[in-house]
Amino acid sequence: MSNTKGIILAGGKGTRLYPLTKVISKQLLPVYDKPMIFYPLTTLIHAGIKDILIIINPYDETLFKKLLGDGRQWGINISFKIQHKPEGLAQAFLIGEDFIGSSNVVLILGDNLFHGDTLEKHFTRSKSRKVGSTIFAYPVKNPQRYGVPEFDKDGKIISIEEKPQYPKSRYAITGIYFFDNSVIKKASKVLPSKRGELEITDLIKMYLNEMKLHLELLGRGITWLDTGNIDSLNSASNYVKIMEQRQGLKLGCPEEIAWRKGLISNQDLLDLAKPLIKSGYGNYLIELLK
Ligand code: TTP
Repeated sequence: MSNTKGIILAGGKGTRLYPLTKVISKQLLPVYDKPMIFYPLTTLIHAGIKDILIIINPYDETLFKKLLGDGRQWGINISFKIQHKPEGLAQAFLIGEDFIGSSNVVLILGDNLFHGDTLEKHFTRSKSRKVGSTIFAYPVKNPQRYGVPEFDKDGKIISIEEKPQYPKSRYAITGIYFFDNSVIKKASKVLPSKRGELEITDLIKMYLNEMKLHLELLGRGITWLDTGNIDSLNSASNYVKIMEQRQGLKLGCPEEIAWRKGLISNQDLLDLAKPLIKSGYGNYLIELLK
């Protein structure tokens, strides 16, 4: 079995952000000082994943390639595949079948932002489970908007409901999922839901039925934001701004994480910094070397 691979789902309609997203992908919009896609991308690099497929809408290809290239500049491999219509999250594994090959795979949604220094521990543990799936639950005020897990009295997950009117817990399933290679076969069995999408929840339920589903609870020290509507996008920008200004450390900076992980050298970091000097982003990278 080869190394775990990563997929970022960065297609979708983005209708909740109209008119902002009428002509540009949501994942290319700014979250404070960088494009949204940088955040899920750095989360995957953080999780030790170097082979990354980005699934995008047909008309976005040129812009994504201009922004991210083939990943070589950050010591990773990035490739792209088109999703012709946004037919659901579980379609990622059908579109990505050749890319996944015989590996295990992590899927992250292109509009999800994770932050916190215990995340790496969760990801390392999840990656080490070679069989089954690991999903992550996070306490939220409005679980009705999400997939919601139900727990038995021992804290074991017994069901998941998609956008329930009466949630059975106050947890939401977040937008990062670890799967073993059987996800490809399972995805081919998922049928379109009432809203015409291949639902990730149906896929996860297959693992639950096989008793191969693991759930990790993300504690209150971790931040999970999605950026799918105008208020949440603005809140995410404010969050990043506050954290960066307070700590003097950037969130979601692929150059930094690549350098810290030893994927690129000091000289590579300097070379990446030069064209970014005027915005202050480049200076930040240069300061890291001091
Ligand atoms: P959503 O926010 O559920 O959907 P959307 O992006 O189409 O937006 P809206 O509801 O405003 O119309 O999607 C979650 C993430 O998954 C987002 O990053 C886009 C991505 N996505 C795809 O890439 N393909 C898909 O088929 C779907 C449903 C979502």
